[in-house]
Amino acid sequence: MKRSLATITVLSLALTLLLSGCVTETGGAQKVVVATDAAFPPMEFVDENKEIVGFDIDLMNAIAEVQGLEIEYKNTAWDGIFAGLDTGDYDAILSAVTIREDRQAVYDFSDPYVNAGQAVVVRADETVIQGGDDLVDRVVGAQIGTTGAFAVQDIEGTTLKEYDSIDLALMDLVNGNVEAVVVDTPVAADFALASDQFRGQLKIVGDTLTEEYYGILVRKGENQDLLASFNEGLKKIQENGVYDEIYGKWMSTD
Ligand code: ARG
Repeated sequence: MKRSLATITVLSLALTLLLSGCVTETGGAQKVVVATDAAFPPMEFVDENKEIVGFDIDLMNAIAEVQGLEIEYKNTAWDGIFAGLDTGDYDAILSAVTIREDRQAVYDFSDPYVNAGQAVVVRADETVIQGGDDLVDRVVGAQIGTTGAFAVQDIEGTTLKEYDSIDLALMDLVNGNVEAVVVDTPVAADFALASDQFRGQLKIVGDTLTEEYYGILVRKGENQDLLASFNEGLKKIQENGVYDEIYGKWMSTD
């Protein structure tokens, strides 16, 4: 009798410890501060209610939900977004960032989550420029420090005009100050072709100039657990259909 009472005491103590352990784990969601340059529709942008929305935001929120993370978004200009990660202003960058070897040398990236190459955008009435080959010796716009700008720099004789955000580049194209803009395909297909601001004024020509994949990034070597959690969450939402829903909601598929 005495012995079983002792056993029960030990067991219930163990159970209490176990439960309290569980409570702190699931109760206090891990807080993660994420930077995004919310001027890149449909990936991330500020909507009419002044809220940060888009594919990336839905993706991260879905990952956060299955992984028990609490996300705080920090709207951060692209030029300087990497520097802010270096100095610890936030824990991660989620901003349609292309996974590149030179960036991987400095940051740790999640698994790729979207395939997005560079598209050539021209005015709707353009007849001469029909693709990347026709950009030689032309004045071409792109967002500063993006893979679009790098793609333009790779074309011989082309003059690159850089802009702080992609809407300024597209506006300059509409106004005739550049002859083309090179930008990620999702943004070309959505913002340049279908937004109120540009609808009917621009078109995409030729094939994509590059093959690129987006990833979420963190400081190198410092955040392996967080990165693993992102990847695990990404896998879960790819398996349960949520990823496809988000894709269908934001991406133009033609
Ligand atoms: N994918 C391109 C890059 O990584 C452009 C990303 C720009 N993102 C943004 N939110 N402005 O260089």
